[in-house]
Amino acid sequence: MKRSLAAMGLVICACAAQAMQKNGEVWHDTAGHVVNAHGGGVLAHGGKYYLYGEHKVYGRAGNKAHVGVHMYSSEDLESWKDEGAVLKVEDKVGSDIEDGCVLERPKILFCEKTGKFVMFFHLELKGQGYKAARVGIAVADKPTGPYVFLRSLRPNAGQWPMNVPEEARTEATKGKFLSATTPWGGKASLWGAHFDGGQMSRDMTLFKDDDGRAWHVFASEDNSTVHVSELTDDYLGYTGRWWRIAELDWTEAVAICKKNGWYYLIGSGCTGWKPNAARSYRARSMTGPWERTGNPCAGVNPANGLGPELTWGGQSNYILKKSEDEYIAMFDIWKPENQVDSRLVWLPVTFNSDGTISIKWK
Ligand code: DGJ
Repeated sequence: MKRSLAAMGLVICACAAQAMQKNGEVWHDTAGHVVNAHGGGVLAHGGKYYLYGEHKVYGRAGNKAHVGVHMYSSEDLESWKDEGAVLKVEDKVGSDIEDGCVLERPKILFCEKTGKFVMFFHLELKGQGYKAARVGIAVADKPTGPYVFLRSLRPNAGQWPMNVPEEARTEATKGKFLSATTPWGGKASLWGAHFDGGQMSRDMTLFKDDDGRAWHVFASEDNSTVHVSELTDDYLGYTGRWWRIAELDWTEAVAICKKNGWYYLIGSGCTGWKPNAARSYRARSMTGPWERTGNPCAGVNPANGLGPELTWGGQSNYILKKSEDEYIAMFDIWKPENQVDSRLVWLPVTFNSDGTISIKWK
């Protein structure tokens, strides 16, 4: 299928490439094109940074994937060179990643053991709304791809959550976790209902710990509860060990970092594309227990007058550890009417002496 540059959201800016990217404003790459990478993250590898994310197209069509995952490289996190679409949606009818599917929140880890770059993303099959709730997995030999799509699945079919003790692993226990009432009066299906077919997997992140162990962390159980799922040594599959955290807290847009032996998770509530107040959690282990530590955000975005009550109009996405002392929290200000105009917000994370974190607008 032929796509025009405009339909692909690639519009050439008349201005020269900007040296300085500003929070909430349009960012440009080194060629002066608008940076088109949303809901993604930054991979630091071999002395370079790789910014990647959802390539959005114009109008409401941008709420579906028509291009794939777009990547940029940089040596300074300021000037971004376009590396193109590194994972492409497919024209083939029936492909899991068919043009028109929903492909969101891609995340990439480098696996030292295999020397491969592994990408996970939230996948909704074409024409099914948000019902499929799957994770897609792709792999590449180089950070800049091409990423080869391997498969999509619902994780942990037939596996008990580790925080259900052995002696309680009965049909009766499963039966208690079939459904719950949502805070807005609807019905949510819980892990017991998905034991055989695999757990629902929507908003997600990947986290690699200091010991090389990797984790897939995702909004599950109709977004009511977060699952922390251990990956195999090659990061391409699941060990079957998984934990439920932030139970019935309705957290999505999860992002994780670790500092001084504490794991920190930031996330949002569940209001679709509309912003809400961020929340944070901390734990001594990836598997929990995770303690809720409040809204980490502060300050006001002067462009829209929004403060921490609505996360400056944005939603959390990723935390980059730049060095031992520098962590950058990344957010997206979504524009569901025209997602190609969604904006990026990157802010430093402050680790407070009381064990909480703060992220202040600047
Ligand atoms: C909120 C999620 O964080 C986004 O990634 C996207 O899935 C929207 N919901 C869709 O409404």
